[in-house]
Amino acid sequence: MPSKYLITSALPYINGVKHIGNLIGSMLPADVYARYLRQEGSDVLFICGTDEHGAPAELAAKEADEPVDVYCKKMFQVQRQCYEDFCISFDYFGRTSSPSNHKLTSEIFENLYERGFIEEKYISQYYSPVDGRFLPDRYVEGTCPHCGYEKARGDQCDGCGRLLDPEELIRPYSVLSKSYDITLEQTQHYFLNLPKLEGQVTEWVNTQDGWSDIVRGVAQKWIKDGLQARCITRDLSWGIELPVKYQKQGARKVFYVWFDAPNGYISITQDWATSVGDPLKWKEWWQPESFKDVHCVQFMAKDNLPFHTVFWPAMLIGAGMSIKMPDDIKGMSWLTYEKGKFSTSQKRGVFLDEALKFFPADYWRYYLLANCPESSDSDFTFESFAATVNKDLIGVLGNFVNRTFTVFRKSFNSTVPHLDGDDLELQNRCESVLREISDLLAARKFRQATQKLRALWVIGNEYITEKTPWVADLPSSGPTIARCLHLIRVFATASAPFVPQTAQRIADLLNVPWRGICKTPIADCFAVSKLVPGATLAHDTDTVLFKKIEDDVVASLTQRYSGKDSNSSEYEI
Ligand code: 2FM
Ligand code: ZN
Repeated sequence: MPSKYLITSALPYINGVKHIGNLIGSMLPADVYARYLRQEGSDVLFICGTDEHGAPAELAAKEADEPVDVYCKKMFQVQRQCYEDFCISFDYFGRTSSPSNHKLTSEIFENLYERGFIEEKYISQYYSPVDGRFLPDRYVEGTCPHCGYEKARGDQCDGCGRLLDPEELIRPYSVLSKSYDITLEQTQHYFLNLPKLEGQVTEWVNTQDGWSDIVRGVAQKWIKDGLQARCITRDLSWGIELPVKYQKQGARKVFYVWFDAPNGYISITQDWATSVGDPLKWKEWWQPESFKDVHCVQFMAKDNLPFHTVFWPAMLIGAGMSIKMPDDIKGMSWLTYEKGKFSTSQKRGVFLDEALKFFPADYWRYYLLANCPESSDSDFTFESFAATVNKDLIGVLGNFVNRTFTVFRKSFNSTVPHLDGDDLELQNRCESVLREISDLLAARKFRQATQKLRALWVIGNEYITEKTPWVADLPSSGPTIARCLHLIRVFATASAPFVPQTAQRIADLLNVPWRGICKTPIADCFAVSKLVPGATLAHDTDTVLFKKIEDDVVASLTQRYSGKDSNSSEYEI
């Protein structure tokens, strides 16, 4: 097993605070994986950042009535704070608008050009007299020729997921002015010659043995449908400008956002390297001496798969820059919201800045992981959220910790009792589940791993119920409570990647160093030494880890985020 893991989470668009569906769609599973691997002792670099170019950024800044650079800087800080609040343990959270990405993207373009993979073409593009400008793909909408969806975007249809060119749209109109008065006119652009790269990309795709069937299926379908040359330049004022010598007709073209965004994984690593005072350190990850020394895993929602399995690899292969390619790509399905789509404009769904006003990060993390949309979509409801928190976090983990501490304080005055040897049956049961959790995390199966975590907690409750240490004058009560305290430590270690704040709180309750827990591999954690008999732990700290979510709160939040009411303040809880 390689010991260096390069983990990336899809770079979220800058155009607004993300919702809980985005969180479970890449960042949260990537974080659990990164935390798990760090516990295993692997050298992990976990990279993410905001994807700041393209029409969505321009449109969002326009709506906020701010210059686009000011808007992006502000939203970058807002987004970064949100992820920090959800305990997403990025080693570096950067920006695709940084100078390093300007430089790298231009370099990749020039290499592709010199190696014959860039074509110059004059193409017809929609011009809008009302808006006084050429309209990039995203600024044109219309009806999808494949599925009839009426609000298909010029670059991709949200109805059927197909990539489109604006000319294919039926009844196209300008997104800016809503005007149907748009005409096709000739303008110069550059294209990535994907057909010329098809052989090499196909070979690369076919040799990826770690991909799931879904990921492989997406890549193979895109290739089978026939790769087309793809336009990589745009008429936007915000973006990475083409090097001057490639600008024609006095135009000021920028690169297509999907041409610069994935390079952000590398440029953000360069920014990380600079931030740690070793600017060339990024090469250890993206240009290592042997590619086998680094294992690169990329997490993303399934709509990002074509770009990561075909488009970006084609760019890197074509540019011939000897860059580490992903070993595994984890494509997540959708989290729906009360059986529908999340919608920012309709206030439908729970957004990250709001979510923590109501419940701590671990409630969300646990729920989302327990319902992780891996092999299929899954649906969020406040009712199921409350049921999961109440049943699992409170009813199983919280209950066990509280039961143990109640007896520990009352009967043992918070002094760790002596053990009388190991309970091998208990140890075997725990170790078997711990191995399963570890194996599932290694295989990036987060939903099943969370089920097993719950199964581990259940063992604690069954054990304490069977041993009844609260019964007065029971000689076995001391060893039972000592074992329960050990189980709590084991639970904190196994739970740390999933619910890190809770795990840390438990570590504090037990007076064991959090840093030690973060370095203990899950599969081996039962074997760590027990708490020292005779040690006294804090007696008055609150041991209630979670607070029950009541039905009236569920009703109020369901109403508040249904998107049906514009005046949400009526439903304050
Ligand atoms: O879907 C998204 O949010 C895109 N911004 C993901 C980009 S991933 C990477 F390529 F930058
Ligand atoms: Zn469609």
